[in-house]
Amino acid sequence: MMSISPHQVISAFDEVPTVGHCLVACITITSVLYGLYQWLLPNPVPGIAFNLEATKSLFGDAPGMIKEVSVTGEFRVWCAKQVKKMDSPICQVFIRPFSKPWILLADFRESKDVLMRRKEFDKSSFLSDGMECMGSFHGIYPTGDKFKWNRQLIQDLMTTSFLNNHVGPAVYSKGLDVMKLFEMKMNLAKGRPFSVKKDFEYASLDVMIEFAFGKNWVHTATGPQVELLSKLGASEVKFDALDQPVSFPIAPIMDFLESVYEAPEIVEKTINAIMPKLQTWWWSKQSWYKKIFDEKERIMKEQVAIAVNNYRSGHVKTGIEHMLMREGARAEKEGREPDFGSEVFRDEMFGDIVGGHHTTSGAMMWLAKYLTDWPQIQSKLRLVLYETLSTAKEENRLFTFEEIRRAKLPYLDAVIEEMLRINAVTVTREALCDTTILGCPIKKGTQIFFVSNGPGFLSPSIPTDDSKRSETSRAAKLNDKWDETHDLTLFDPERWLVRKNNGEGLLEDDVDFDGAAGPQLAFGLGPRACWGRRLAHMETKTLIAMLVWNFRLLETPPALSSHAGFEGIARVPQQCYLRLSKI
Ligand code: HEM
Repeated sequence: MMSISPHQVISAFDEVPTVGHCLVACITITSVLYGLYQWLLPNPVPGIAFNLEATKSLFGDAPGMIKEVSVTGEFRVWCAKQVKKMDSPICQVFIRPFSKPWILLADFRESKDVLMRRKEFDKSSFLSDGMECMGSFHGIYPTGDKFKWNRQLIQDLMTTSFLNNHVGPAVYSKGLDVMKLFEMKMNLAKGRPFSVKKDFEYASLDVMIEFAFGKNWVHTATGPQVELLSKLGASEVKFDALDQPVSFPIAPIMDFLESVYEAPEIVEKTINAIMPKLQTWWWSKQSWYKKIFDEKERIMKEQVAIAVNNYRSGHVKTGIEHMLMREGARAEKEGREPDFGSEVFRDEMFGDIVGGHHTTSGAMMWLAKYLTDWPQIQSKLRLVLYETLSTAKEENRLFTFEEIRRAKLPYLDAVIEEMLRINAVTVTREALCDTTILGCPIKKGTQIFFVSNGPGFLSPSIPTDDSKRSETSRAAKLNDKWDETHDLTLFDPERWLVRKNNGEGLLEDDVDFDGAAGPQLAFGLGPRACWGRRLAHMETKTLIAMLVWNFRLLETPPALSSHAGFEGIARVPQQCYLRLSKI
């Protein structure tokens, strides 16, 4: 049995806490907590401008940013504001707690240099973490072996021959579908405006599906809509005053199309989450999320199986079939069996479809809005189309795909470029090692945001000390013809044209389109720039030419004509209403 000595009893009494002990303990705990709090507070990188207030809160700039973005729907607007407030081409903001500040770079010359020439920067984990749900899609990989492996598989899909022979005719036929839908809506609306947001989205979705599956897939998103409206009697359409929009019923689309339609929204919400990986994990447990990705797996497996059969019988037409062909050739070279069951085919093609529809439909919506708001530009464009495609005009028919593809239309190119300039999203990169930008220290792992809607883009550049630029930036050829004194917020396509004569004409003989005339980050730049740019251009060019050729885009009421956007993987307008009359 244990016994307690008198000495032990006395020392036990000694250990009973006194007020003094408590005070010491409180002070120690408070000091430790205060030290921890100070340590967790945002820690600015020396020499880079920041918002002082943000360094006094654990949450840094996040509460202010979230408050503003919840109203505007746009992170880029908040970024541009910070740059202007700090009046510096490079500044830092504290968005994710307990991590490195994010760097905002608002200087086109240096942005171009980082994106195109500097090996110390690569795809950002800010984007990759938010795109985890896209599986083995190349857009989330750093520029290494996995990235190259996938890129090899899709190397045929942006070639001139694939675009002109497979994608172009699909673009043209989907364009005809959506023009038919517009005409039906126009007739039913009797001079009233109506939303075309879903129509552009569905048309673009149909293009991407045909790009991937060709005629192996028969369902479209626009088809059911056309069918629904064709059965709608004039008496079933509810009218109000002439300026009130007419709402049309929306036909349901197949589950797989719904999955493709919703996937970009999931990606966008995850990218913008404070903890994207946690969010993806949490969502992946939920039934609505599982439904989307289970459906994607089911259909992609079905489509790969059809494509494998076609490939084996010597028919290679669609996007997936070309990917299988590349894998077949690669396997043969490496002396192994092709791995057609790999998830890479399903994830890669799904990623490309997702990357292509939301972005391009957003671009077409902006164009429709701008051409409505600037009727002189609309008229000039129509005239240019009629004069350039004069045979079709004389024969009183729409141009063919071959005609529009071959037509040189510098003015239309400029219209598209100018729309892209105004609506570019914020491209990102990550530092792969400790380095510098504009002479400021940048630690490995830092996320860089290239602000493309602030100084140097939509307002004059902030003067920058050239000696602080990188060597490659200083060595690069400068373009000094861009006029920053002419209001940069205005939609003015002629900024992108170089005149060949003294007249005012806008045809091929009068002007050249110069895509390098001014700052442009709409498709990013460098090795990780947009892979689908050529397809996007073909689609916007064809569909917008069809729209302007067939219809007059009449003025819409101010309440339906806002230029507010939602920013995600693309910047899309919050509203897109048209009031059409047939030409
Ligand atoms: C107007 C339409 C489009 C816009 C504005 C747009 C914009 C962008 C931007 C800003 C990036 C990031 C570039 C960078 O980080 O430097 C990107 C990447 C990408 N885009 Fe597009 N895009 C469009 C259409 C398309 C289309 C039609 C496709 C598919 C056919 C596509 C596929 C991709 C892919 C796969 C990437 C990732 C490239 C990589 O990580 O290397 N995009 N796009």
